[in-house]
This record gives sequence, C-alpha cells and structure tokens, in this order.
Amino acid sequence: MNPLLHTSKLGKTFGGLKAVQSIDLSVASNQILSIIGPNGAGKTTLFNCLSGIYKPDDGDVFFEGINITGLKPYQICHLGIARTFQNIRLFPGLSALDNVMIGQFHRRRLHPLAMLFRSENYRNEEAVGYEAALELLDFVGLSEVAHTGARNLAYGLQRRLEIARALATSPRVLLLDEPAAGMNPSEAEHMVDLIQRLRGRGLAIILIEHHMKVVMQISDHIMVLDHGETIATGTPEEVRNDPKVIAAYLGKES
Ligand SMILES: Nc1ncnc2c1ncn2[C@@H]1O[C@H](COP(=O)(O)OP(=O)(O)OP(=O)(O)O)[C@@H](O)[C@H]1O
Ligand SMILES: [Mg+2]
Repeated sequence: MNPLLHTSKLGKTFGGLKAVQSIDLSVASNQILSIIGPNGAGKTTLFNCLSGIYKPDDGDVFFEGINITGLKPYQICHLGIARTFQNIRLFPGLSALDNVMIGQFHRRRLHPLAMLFRSENYRNEEAVGYEAALELLDFVGLSEVAHTGARNLAYGLQRRLEIARALATSPRVLLLDEPAAGMNPSEAEHMVDLIQRLRGRGLAIILIEHHMKVVMQISDHIMVLDHGETIATGTPEEVRNDPKVIAAYLGKES
C-alpha cells in the first residue's frame, strides 16, 4: 500500500541534544501507527517536525510522495495533515461549536471582504460550516454540549473536542499526541472507539500514547523510540515481546 505520509532519516537537534535521530516511518490510509517510548524519547518533537512547527535538521518528510520538509504549519495543514496537542489547546471562552468552526476557517475560499459585508455567499458558506461542525461534534459524541463553553467541558470531552477541531480542517492524516492522557478507563475506552471510527473514515493516523492497553488494542504498527532513536518497530505482538522494548519502556510499567 502506498503511504500517505512517510519520512526518511528525519532528525532534529537542540543544541547538543539529538532529540530525534534518523527516523523512517510510514503510514497509509486506514492505518494506525503508534509511537511509544519513555518521557523525553522525542515523540512530540517528531510530531513538531511532521507538522512544520520545527524544521528538521536532517532527513525529509513526504506527503503523497511529495517532499514537504520545511513547509510552514499552515501549508502542511492545508495539504491535509492535522494534529492535536499533548496539552489541550482550545479557545476556552468559546463554545464547543465555535471551536470547531474556527478549525474550518482556512478551508474557506471567500475573500475577507465577503465576510466583512456578510455577503450572501458568505452566509451560505457559514450555514454549510455550521452544519458540518455539528456533524463533527456528533461524530465525536459532543452534540449535546455543542453550545457549552469549552472551559466547562469535562477533561475527556475537551480531548474529543480537540479531535473534532482537527477534523474540521478535512485532514487525510491525523497526528494525535496522547489523546487518552489522564483519562479514566471508561473515557479511554471511548477514545479507542473514536480512533477506530476515524480509521474507518479512511484517515491515516499516527498516535502517541502512553496507555499501553489503548496502544496494543488499536495499532496496526508500533514504533518504539528511546533517546530519539527507533529501537523497535512491528506489530503489537512483536513489539510487546521485544527485549529492548521491555528494558526501555514496558518493563517500567509493571
Ligand atoms: N524546544 C526545545 N528546546 C530544547 N529541547 C527540547 C525542545 N523540545 C523538546 N526538547 C527536548 O527534546 C527531548 C525530547 O522531547 P519530547 O517532548 O519530544 O519528548 P516526548 O517523547 O514527547 O516526551 P513525553 O512523553 O514526556 O511527552 C527532551 O529531552 C526535551 O527536553
Ligand atoms: Mg510528548
């Protein structure tokens, strides 16, 4: 299967610290690739390189075979790569619905003056955006709180709202940075279901997650990082039984 997103020898250094070294990964539609590893292993830095927040020092990122290394975050988002953040980044004072509608903005094609004068085209487009945002909220299970302020949502719901907002940019690749962090088992179970339904929509998903139960349950492939390097890749079964992984990471869990 052709990958939607792949990297070749990707690297990022901070001063003397090689935070990400020589990473080769690839993910296709309908696939979930999970990235695991101890704190400070370089997982979020890798996402920052894929999403354009950091410019990699080494290697390349390809989207549909096209080299996108060094593009700006908005350009990468426009191509169809969206992400969520390890620390939730919502607009707390806005409703759930408005948070999703903001995610749609760069998809709009109208001239800003059309918006200013609330032209008919603008009003039509806004109506379509409103319906689409409601559908996304429904998809992540938040339709009942569409008009609730983001800051008043329970933590687990805020995490789902972040995903709805990322989906509003119509991505083909979704990068999820610890979407089940801090969740209780039932919330984590909901998140597993949601991620599986996202895959069912044809998205390529890269998932950073510490919840081993979640990772082992839903990943097609797992990549294990330690000190910025890949120490193992494979199916959940292969990775679970890899002595290097047990030593670096899983061993610390038990
Ligand atoms: N902007 C930065 N400047 C300097 N060092 C950084 C920067 N961002 C990350 N680092 C360092 O790079 C290393 C990898 O950090 P990163 O946040 O990618 O790890 P992580 O695997 O996401 O960890 P966690 O599981 O705790 O989220 C760490 O040593 C971190 O301190
Ligand atoms: Mg991180």
